Amino acid sequence: MQTVSTAAELTAAIDEERDLPGCAGLKVAFVPTMGALHDGHLSLVRQAREYADLVVVSIFVNPLQFGAGEDFDKYPRTLEADAAVLEAAGADVLFAPTVDVVYPDGVEAANAAAAARPALQSGAVGKTFEGAARPGHFDGMLTVVARLFELVNPDFAVFGAKDAQQLFLIKRMAATEFPDLHIIEAPIVRETSGLAMSSRNRYLDAAALEVAGQLSKALNVGKAAAETLGAKPSLAVNAARARLEGVPEAKLDYLALVDPSSFELIDDSFTGRALMLIAAVVGNTRLIDNLTIDFQEPFA
Ligand code: PAF
Repeated sequence: MQTVSTAAELTAAIDEERDLPGCAGLKVAFVPTMGALHDGHLSLVRQAREYADLVVVSIFVNPLQFGAGEDFDKYPRTLEADAAVLEAAGADVLFAPTVDVVYPDGVEAANAAAAARPALQSGAVGKTFEGAARPGHFDGMLTVVARLFELVNPDFAVFGAKDAQQLFLIKRMAATEFPDLHIIEAPIVRETSGLAMSSRNRYLDAAALEVAGQLSKALNVGKAAAETLGAKPSLAVNAARARLEGVPEAKLDYLALVDPSSFELIDDSFTGRALMLIAAVVGNTRLIDNLTIDFQEPFA
């Protein structure tokens, strides 16, 4: 694995592979990350390998997607350990740029330039759920993802399904800005407790980890209510919420059902596949998760 940090080194590393005999049409798969890697990220790398000959992983903690008072400064930065696990997982190129490589004209200028590109604005969807709790987060996320796509120029890009709203917005942005790029959705990887893997799980001590495990259990209660007992959407949400009532240490922000094709709330006339979203704060750590649920009439 080559580790590179500038745009020129990145292009050279990719071209070097393409120049090998018989590699002219080599496909590139890209896994953007903010580092602090866990098994969920490594599953993205494995997925990337299934689609392409060359796997590029980026590690960049993007200042634009953190709001005031969020954890940008204390976000775990573990480059050496991350490089070792990526090498073992079979990544070909690790791109670990500095802020001035990603935003050569500065962070403010990048923000202003993105504001002038409607496709890089997260719009109404970007102001709901995670966007409501983290104003500006999704615009900053789209800005860096588009910039990284421009730098890496991949054929495939792999994202985890845990960040469902992020994935929805990236797919929408890529459809117009990068029409030849295939966005691949990788399933959520979970701890044995059911807790969705996340870099922020490192902030949790043993007691908090146990509380955090209740989020996925609540989602599963909602799923069973709908798929086993025939509950309509509002009752499935109530069942999931009730599961968390005995867990006051998990401060629920939202628990809601959306249509994955629009990311809008569904009502009780909805049938088909919905996405149940949850966000809660455990200690000082914000956690999110989701689960698909099939709603079929007649409801019980
Ligand atoms: O999901 C993440 O880790 C980040 O939001 C991403 C996609 C790497 C952009 O900074």
